[in-house]
Amino acid sequence: MDEQESLPPHVLIFPLPLQGPVNSMFKLAELLCFSGLHITILLTENIHNRLVLHTDITSRFDQCPGFQIKTISDGLPDDHPRDGEKFLEVFDSLRTKTKTLFKDMLISDSLCVDLDGEVRRRVVSCIIADGVLGFTCDVADEINVPIFCVRTISSCCLWIFFCLPELIESGEYPFKDDNLDEPIKSVPGTETFLRRRDLPEFCRSGDLTDPNIQLFKTEGQENSRAYGLILNTFEELDQPILNQMRTICPNLYPIGPLHAHLKKKQTTLRSSSNSLWAEDRTCIDWLNDQLPNSVIYVSFGSIATMTNDQLIEFWYGLVNSKQNFLWVIRPNSIGGEEWKSKMPVDLVKGTKERGYIVEWAPQEEVLAHPAIGGFWTHCGWNSILESVYEGKPMICWPYFFDQQVNSRFVEKVWGLGLDMKDTCDREIVEKMVKDLMVLRKQEFLGRANHMSKLAKNCLMEGGSSYSNFDRLVKDIKSLSN
Ligand code: UDX
Repeated sequence: MDEQESLPPHVLIFPLPLQGPVNSMFKLAELLCFSGLHITILLTENIHNRLVLHTDITSRFDQCPGFQIKTISDGLPDDHPRDGEKFLEVFDSLRTKTKTLFKDMLISDSLCVDLDGEVRRRVVSCIIADGVLGFTCDVADEINVPIFCVRTISSCCLWIFFCLPELIESGEYPFKDDNLDEPIKSVPGTETFLRRRDLPEFCRSGDLTDPNIQLFKTEGQENSRAYGLILNTFEELDQPILNQMRTICPNLYPIGPLHAHLKKKQTTLRSSSNSLWAEDRTCIDWLNDQLPNSVIYVSFGSIATMTNDQLIEFWYGLVNSKQNFLWVIRPNSIGGEEWKSKMPVDLVKGTKERGYIVEWAPQEEVLAHPAIGGFWTHCGWNSILESVYEGKPMICWPYFFDQQVNSRFVEKVWGLGLDMKDTCDREIVEKMVKDLMVLRKQEFLGRANHMSKLAKNCLMEGGSSYSNFDRLVKDIKSLSN
């Protein structure tokens, strides 16, 4: 055995530079650290700078030898917005400019972990990269290092991406007319409930040259190039879809819900935040004064935006429902700042009586709070898993991407809430909030509690995610030798 093989494996983790994926990949990194592996997490400079601003990211792993953060350029100028529509430019730049830097970093020894000062250095022995960053598979092949892919979006949406070639080849897509309620036929396992309107919003354009379609239609091929595919879900939630996916990627590691998996193993490292915004903890004090299951938590994640009109409709719906609400209105999520000074008086009054608004909340803690009885969410995958784990029913207002699919699964497959997609009307909001929080409360809470138990059990010794994670660590160790 040479000296490198006698050292623990050194895993390089490369997340997609977005809040959701960065969150999940940090959690995976921490889990692997607990298992004694050496970890380098590679962040784009932009994400690193934002994390340093709001979190204790640099000191967090002080107790963890063999953990380091390295940065790489995403190839874009500092003032590039890197969100909304412009995010596709980040993909392009990563593919064209970052790929070369990435390979150079791996073949130079700049990513080595220093052990015992400079005496022993461990080179990267395995890569774990976001599956959207297909170029990492090319580089891994070129330098002969094993690679695992991770997809941090929902498996139900990933399965649709896997089926895009079939949708196109069968002639079903592009759709022949505008009927969004027409069932989808070419996605095995979803025939009875999936409609055109439940596909990611970019599928509605019917344009095969849409850059999103181009990007995602090769997902199945790209992800199956890796040794295995790590997923943030659990067998009991997603088994039918996972079984479909195994026909294309046989080696799956469903190890979620990651946020809870990490908490279970967190014995030595401090519990931590990866937030790109400062958390306003005053909402926890406010929640402490509320009755159990009495508050609906409203948050549309880290990317979704809304217009002023949508804001007003949502706000009237919430106030008119007469339920207490905690609402995250993220900076820049509404066009301009004028809304703050132009609010109708009845909304301001209604909010003072039963609402609390923050710019960013400690969401996991909020969802775990007994006062929260429901979650009105944009259906980002992390938000859904956090809600499922805590047994909170959901109202879904999907914004884009996997969220359109996720919201359909929440209502029709898991029975955990109501899908409000494609509507934005104060009366619908009022009705759904009342249904979730009052009229159908027991029905939804019953199912949410059941799913929450399954989520908790899968992380116990011998549970599905626990065992899949064990298998992942064993496989990384054997491939690293
Ligand atoms: C993006 C995509 O939009 C989504 O569809 C995909 O599933 C994952 O990446 P994002 O908007 O970041 O999603 O939503 P989500 O996946 O729900 O992640 C948001 C994270 O921010 C969650 O972990 C949540 O706990 C956290 N959050 C959100 C806070 O900590 N505080 C808040 O106030 C709001």
